[in-house]
Parts: sequence; C-alpha cells; structure tokens
Amino acid sequence: MIWNDSEADLRLAAEQLRQGKLVAIPTETVYGLGANALDEKAVASIFRAKGRPTDNPLIVHIADVNDLKTYAEPNEWAYLLAERFWPGPLTMILPKKDVIPNIVSAGLDSVALRFPAHPVAQALIRYSGCPIAAPSANISGKPSGTTAEHVLHDFKDSISGVVDGGRCACGLESTVVSLLGDHPVLLRPGFITPEQIREVIPSLTVARAVEEELPKDETVLSPGLAHKHYAPNAETVGLIGDAKSVSEYIRQHSDGESCAVMCFDGEEGYFAGDTVLSYGRRGNSAEQGERLFSTLRQLDEMNISRIYINAEYGEGVGLAVYNRLLRSCGFRMIRV
Ligand code: TXA
Ligand code: MG
Repeated sequence: MIWNDSEADLRLAAEQLRQGKLVAIPTETVYGLGANALDEKAVASIFRAKGRPTDNPLIVHIADVNDLKTYAEPNEWAYLLAERFWPGPLTMILPKKDVIPNIVSAGLDSVALRFPAHPVAQALIRYSGCPIAAPSANISGKPSGTTAEHVLHDFKDSISGVVDGGRCACGLESTVVSLLGDHPVLLRPGFITPEQIREVIPSLTVARAVEEELPKDETVLSPGLAHKHYAPNAETVGLIGDAKSVSEYIRQHSDGESCAVMCFDGEEGYFAGDTVLSYGRRGNSAEQGERLFSTLRQLDEMNISRIYINAEYGEGVGLAVYNRLLRSCGFRMIRV
C-alpha cells in the first residue's frame, strides 16, 4: 500500500500504526520503518523485517519537545539542543524512562529521541497518538531508503505500507549525540554538524569510531557503529584524490572485471569506458549526501563486481558523507 500526504491517507496510515502494524514514514533525513514504540510486539516486527541484530537500539520519534520528559530524563544540554535544532535531523541519547520497552533500547537503560522536521512524520505521530520507533527503512546493512520506491523494494511484503512524502531532503541519517556522560559525544555525524553543536555545547567531542575503524574488541558507545553498514553488494573501494589520479589508480588496479565508478558531477569524462554514475559536485557535501544512498542503490541493480568511489575527506556535512562512505567501503579508503 502507498499512502500519500492527504489528511485522509495520513489518518489511515496512523490507524495502522495504532494497531501495531509496520508503516514506513518519510522524514527529512531518510525513510523510517515505523511502529508504535510503546507496543513491544510491533517493535519486534521491525527487527524481524529488517533482519536487524537485536543488540542495536532504535530511535523513538516524537512531535513535541515536552515528550523529552515523558520518555527520558532530559538534562540541561537536552533542552539547549532541542531549542536550537528541533524539529530537525538531530537525535539525543538520554537516560530512558520505564514506559519505553526494553526491546526498543536493546536492553540499554538509555533511549534515543528525535523530533523530525518532516510535516508528514509529525502528522503521523500526532494522528496515531504514539511515539514512533523507526530505524532507517532498509534491509540491515544496506544503504538507507530515501524514496518510497526504495522502501517498497526492500519491504513490499513485510509492511502495511509506506507514506510517500517525496524524496528525503538530507538523504543521510540524523546526527546522533549522547548526553549520558560528563561530556556530550557525537556518535554519528549528519546534517547538523559538530561545529553547529559546539555553538551550544563547546565541550562536545566526536567519537573515534566516526572516522576510523575500531579494533574488534573495543566496546563501542553506540552498538550501531559496530555493525556493517550502507554496503552495496559489490566489493567497494573508496579513493580520495583528484579525478585524474583516481582514474589512473583504477586503470592500474582493475583487472578486466565489470567495475563501476562513482565520481563527482562533471568529472565523468575521466572514466570513459567504465560504468559511471555521479553523486554531486566535488566540494558540495550537502548535494553528495542527498544523492549518496540512491546512487549506491542504483549500482546494486547493475550486477557489478567492483565499485570505485571518488571520495573527499570533509568537515561539516562532509564528515557525515565521509563517515557513510567509509562504512560502505568496509573502511577500504585509499589516498591516491
Ligand atoms: O535519521 C535518522 O536517524 C533515521 C530516521 C528514520 O529518523 N533513523 C535512523 O535509525 O537512522 P537507525 O536505527 O538506522 O540508526 C539509529 C542509530 C544506530 O546507530 C543506533 O545504534 C543508535 O542510533 N542508537 C539508538 N539508540 C541508542 C542508544 N540508546 N544508545 C546508543 N546508540 C543508540
Ligand atoms: Mg540505519
């Protein structure tokens, strides 16, 4: 079932949520695979549909800043961040209240809360009357879904339906900040950048796992950081450098297999002869972020054995793009 954003359709989709069914919802970041966060059975079906490891907790979506204290124990930082960035692509980790079932938080005593900016997501939360637990709408480990078509590709038979709210504006998942310890820690970069958060909380640090592969035995702050992510089917290699150096590297290293290149807009000419898709202009991280997952999904449809991605190391939103690419490549990122 595909619902649109009319009042009548939103009411129907909200009713499904209230009844414990799975409904995929649009947000400004990526589509979410939503269920009533207070209904354990409904939440269990999210994990089943995604094939998500049960040690990876879900984000609870709310549509009212006051619900910070309904579901969590907010501190002063939480209110500062909410005032500045909510509604929007920012998720906060806080001590959990008991109303949130343990399955949502994967047994942790904390909960991730987000107040999305997308009007359709807000309407669904309000009309259903429940907070919505929603991970990104993709089969676990695969690139997140940023259109209703992506969602149906992955979940046609396992959800009640998807509410089509158009293409996601950010294209990358929300920034995740843990407010549990003495100092806030950024666990996952997104469209809200560390620099912006430091304007409100100067002591924010960035978790090491954002930019590097942690040793297997190191405990991670966010379980999601430890799992394989955003990976296309093909073997994928990231290459940092100008288009000419990247094309030379590919010529030297590809051994006649079917390979594809993800390059920057306007640089396709360097890769003539290969399958080429571009994902935004060099230096324009917002554009790259918006198109990244849909481009990776397009490549997955093509039966290619190796993908080379021209990447950039960036600050601001660039850190989020780099973080996702690093994981898409299984940390095989080479400077050329
Ligand atoms: O933009 C987004 O955040 C999207 C949309 C749908 O809102 N959702 C999303 O959910 O990306 P998901 O499940 O794909 O990513 C949630 C991340 C995971 O890395 C998870 O481990 C982490 O947040 N997380 C959730 N609860 C946590 C907790 N209590 N402590 C630490 N990390 C947590
Ligand atoms: Mg995800």
